[in-house]
Formats: sequence, structure tokens, C-alpha cells
Amino acid sequence: PSVGLPDARGRALRDLRISITDRCNFRCVYCMPKELFGSDHQFMERDELLSFDEIVRVAGSAVDLGVDKLRLTGGEPLLRRGIEELISRLAALRTPDGRKPDLALTTNGSALRVKAAALREAGLDRVTVSVDSLDETRFQAINDVRFPLARVFDGIAAANAAGLGPVKVNAVVKRGVNDDEIVPLAEHFRAEGQILRFIEYMDVGASNGWVLDDVVPSAEIIERIDAVHPLVPVAETRAGETAKRWRYLDGSGEIGVISSVTGAFCGTCTRARVSADGKLYTCLFASRGFDLRELLRSGADDDQLRGALADVWSVRDDRYSEQRAQLGDAAADRERIEMSYIGG
Ligand code: GTP
Ligand code: 5AD
Ligand code: SF4
Ligand code: SF4
Repeated sequence: PSVGLPDARGRALRDLRISITDRCNFRCVYCMPKELFGSDHQFMERDELLSFDEIVRVAGSAVDLGVDKLRLTGGEPLLRRGIEELISRLAALRTPDGRKPDLALTTNGSALRVKAAALREAGLDRVTVSVDSLDETRFQAINDVRFPLARVFDGIAAANAAGLGPVKVNAVVKRGVNDDEIVPLAEHFRAEGQILRFIEYMDVGASNGWVLDDVVPSAEIIERIDAVHPLVPVAETRAGETAKRWRYLDGSGEIGVISSVTGAFCGTCTRARVSADGKLYTCLFASRGFDLRELLRSGADDDQLRGALADVWSVRDDRYSEQRAQLGDAAADRERIEMSYIGG
């Protein structure tokens, strides 16, 4: 029994993930392939994006309703000008019982070296950085803009130095692309004191040509690491965590696996998402969102805003990852939103 606003399946609204731009300086082949996100791609215009005032109003209403975890995403959120100001305004929000919500950011790390200190200063609590390979050539082939891995490592170090650590590192595993790096990735980030989480490659969006064979099941990931460095499971600290956590038997360090394909966690999913243009989605795999921007720009007051959030959440019955298996071909036909739009 969770406290807060229950949806149609009794899951409370606890986390809000806010995409603040649909732009990214990377063109990861599984997320924004160049063929679809080329120089002629139409990104959102400035006035289509929620303004900082609008974002803060939405987040504030969500916090009033029980959200105590906010995460900024993109695209690449550090590309949004003035993000430090937005963070300081979000950091000033308080839950009904007077706590500061946990404030996190998911980034590709490319601008962290320059921005980490200012982000921390503004009130950011933590960052998550994506690193899918330790091999410079392969890393650059995945981001497809030849962005050097060394600069992302500098960014992670800067985030740690600024007090944003321990940094969480996300690695999406795709069979035949980087599954040979599972053990090296685990060893590298353990030695660095970072928390690595392996993510099963998901069928988000329509542009990545996902097939089930590309997925390396979490059980296999754990087996491969455990064979070299024995692991023991760690109990979850917060209900509805995406990652199953494991720690090393022979000393410090932990890893996580996010099994959205082989071990759906919809039953405890407390997450809502807002796209950069202000649509509210109650599932990563939703095909339609509720237009908060329209509501905000038609002059709705805070009561009306909270009312709309509550109405949308209370009828929510999404559980896509649990249904994926049963849906079969229908799953592939479904209209889906791109990861770069909804923010992961
Ligand atoms: P923390 O535990 O607070 O660090 O946040 P988190 O576990 O939500 O981590 P993060 O935001 O880094 O999410 C990691 C990845 O897990 C995302 O990029 C998605 O790929 C996946 N993910 C997160 N939330 C969901 C979800 O609700 N459904 C599914 N299917 N995948 C999710
Ligand atoms: N499956 C799993 N994770 C993905 N990400 C992007 N696309 C996918 C996908 N198809 C990850 C990014 C980043 C996070 C925001 O989502 O690598 O770590
Ligand atoms: Fe950009 Fe992240 Fe998508 Fe890569 S996965 S293209 S860094 S938004
Ligand atoms: Fe939540 Fe939808 Fe992901 Fe299930 S598939 S965990 S309901 S976001």
C-alpha cells in the first residue's frame, strides 16, 4: 500500500521525469540514428518548449500531489540554456511534509566537465551518465558523432569532484555490439567507485529496428559477471526501483540490472513523464499524452493544474512491459514515442 495518489492499479505517483529539450549532440545509433535525425530534422521551436516557469509549475503541482523525486532528461538536458536557473528553482520546491525532492539528471556526459560545479551549486543532487563502451573506437561509433570517451570520463570525474557522486552509469547492452564488454565495464566502474547499471535494450520508439534477439537478458549479464566476481543480491531501498541491485561478495561496490524486457517492473511503477513540449505521459511506451502546455497557456490556475494531473494519473492502467510478451506482433505495430522525445 503506497502513500500518495493511486492510479487504477493502486500505484502512487512518486517520480516525475521531465524532458527539457528534444535536441542532442550525439546520434546514438539505437536512439537518434542519423538517417532519421539528420540536418533536415525538425526539432521543437523555442516557443513549443515549456518555459522554466511552466516546468516549475508542473513540477510544483506534482510535488504537492506526492512526487518526491524529479529527474531532468532530454534529448540531452545540458543543451538547454540556463539549466542551472531551472535547477535552482526546482531545488526550492518542498514536499507537503517539508522535504526537498530528490533532484537528478540523466546526461550523455559531454558537457559535465564544464557544468558539474555549477549544477551542484544550483542544487542538483545526483547525475546519471550513459557509457555503453570502454573502447574509444566503439564508443565513437555508437554516439556516431566521434565524441571522445575520454571527455565523458572527465565529466564523470568532475561530477564526483563537485559532490554529485557516486555517479550512476547506464550501459545499454545490445547483443553483438557491446555484450563482450559486460565484465570489463563492471570492473572498470567498480574500480572507479561508480554504480554501473546495465539496461536491457528496449523496443522504445520506432527508429531503432529493435528485435528480441538483440536483447541480452539480465540473468545472463549477472551470470557472466558472477562467474568472475561473485555477486549477492541487495534488497531494494525504495519501492518501485527500476534496477535490481547486486553487490560484490569480495568487497565494496555494486551493480544494477534494469530488466524491462525479461523482468518487467510495471507492478511498482510510480513514474510519470513530461515531454519537452509539455505532454504528460503515464508510461514510457504510451502512444498519447495529455497536453499540459495547452492547459497552462489557457490560464489554468494551480488547482486546475493539480486537478488535471490527478485526473490523468487516477485512470492510469499502463503496464506495457508486462504486456509486451503477450502482445506479440501487435506490440511492434503500436505507435510509439521516441526515447529522445520522452527522455527514457
Ligand atoms: P535512480 O534509481 O533514481 O537513479 O533512477 P532510475 O532507476 O529511474 O534511473 P534512470 O533514470 O537512469 O533510468 C535508467 C533507465 O531505465 C532509463 O533510461 C530507461 O531506459 C529505464 N527506465 C527507467 N524508468 C523506466 C520505466 O518506467 N519503464 C521502463 N520500461 N524502463 C524504464
Ligand atoms: N533501450 C534501452 N535504453 C535506451 N536508452 C536509449 N535508448 C534505449 C533503448 N532502446 C538509454 C540511454 C540512456 C537512457 C536515457 O536511456 O542509453 O542511458
Ligand atoms: Fe542523445 Fe542519449 Fe539518445 Fe544518445 S541515447 S542520442 S546521448 S538522447
Ligand atoms: Fe512503467 Fe510503462 Fe515502464 Fe511499465 S512499461 S515500468 S508502466 S513506464
